[in-house]
Amino acid sequence: MKIDGKHYRTIWPVADGAVVVEVIDQTKLPHKFETKRLATLDEAAHAIKAMIVRGAPLIGATAAYGMAIALAADPSDVAMNAAYDKLAATRPTAINLRWALDRVRSAVAPLAPGARAKVAWVLAAGICDEDVSICEAIGEQGLKLIEAAFAKKGGKGAVNILTHCNAGWLATVDWGTAIAPIYKAFDKGIPVHVWVDETRPRNQGASLTAFELGRHGVPHHIVADNSGGHLMQHGLVDLCIVGTDRVTARGDVCNKIGTYLKALAAHDNGVPFYVALPSPTIDWTVVDGVKEIPIEERSSLEVTRIAGRLADGSVVEVDIAAPGSPARNDAFDVTPARLVTALITERGVCPATRDGLLGLFPEAKTRAAGE
Ligand code: MRU
Repeated sequence: MKIDGKHYRTIWPVADGAVVVEVIDQTKLPHKFETKRLATLDEAAHAIKAMIVRGAPLIGATAAYGMAIALAADPSDVAMNAAYDKLAATRPTAINLRWALDRVRSAVAPLAPGARAKVAWVLAAGICDEDVSICEAIGEQGLKLIEAAFAKKGGKGAVNILTHCNAGWLATVDWGTAIAPIYKAFDKGIPVHVWVDETRPRNQGASLTAFELGRHGVPHHIVADNSGGHLMQHGLVDLCIVGTDRVTARGDVCNKIGTYLKALAAHDNGVPFYVALPSPTIDWTVVDGVKEIPIEERSSLEVTRIAGRLADGSVVEVDIAAPGSPARNDAFDVTPARLVTALITERGVCPATRDGLLGLFPEAKTRAAGE
């Protein structure tokens, strides 16, 4: 997507041919647009852990490049497995991380060490290209739902869509998942308006989703996280679309903390609740999301402090709690499949059920857990 007229992906190889990638430093947005070079395994792992890059698909893409960078430095079995373990340990919830690491390792492990880095580098670039086309296809599939919602309103007024966290292009290589249908609808001239949950504690909605929607010209309002239910009660939300970090074989959805409460409110108010996902986000090995998906617990300081820009332009962190107040920071929650109206994938829209998913991805039948 474009920033000030220039097209960007969220990750790209540097121009001089070195085994180095550049990423947008998302910890600096929306106050500063800065990029960062990742030239070593440690830098790639740090970028994921510190959320310089974040969002399930982009975490996977960065991990794939991290493997290639590590193999260029040392292509031995020992180093390859150590790189895998280091990258896998960065964040526990988004399954795209393990998916990308497995894909790279299984492609290069049978090769002679000297051939590994090149193959991994090309594969990482391929994973990025694939993510872009998958996300664009999700956009096309979800567009049909927005068009239907617009028709339901008699073609009058804007379609009001609520989203949580950031599942836009910044969370992927390009386009986004939940936001891709919104870009498609907007570009097609369908009036859309987005309610952007601020997404405490890290404010991905306020700082990233609102930023990218604003740069694209999509009408939106940031709302406090607790507003969704109220907006739905007053008929101000036509549909919800969120992204996800892991979907189970039966359609349970793990996403940013607070997603579950939005799904409950949507259910209570008869508002359709859609989840957009690329197929690498499906974890076919797990069934019960609440019991089986590891939920990342992050520093309590993310809850008790907040960062922002002062009038002089400097960015500072301030405490919002009394010194010593204990806090807990679960980064994700699980929305049971029964609260999900449908899943939007690159191959189509399906019910959040095992049969629904297998109907679109029949090749997964032999490895899909559950009956
Ligand atoms: O902690 P984050 O910012 O990595 O969490 C991101 C989300 O929860 C997104 O909604 C999810 O990764 C889907 S991204 C297309």
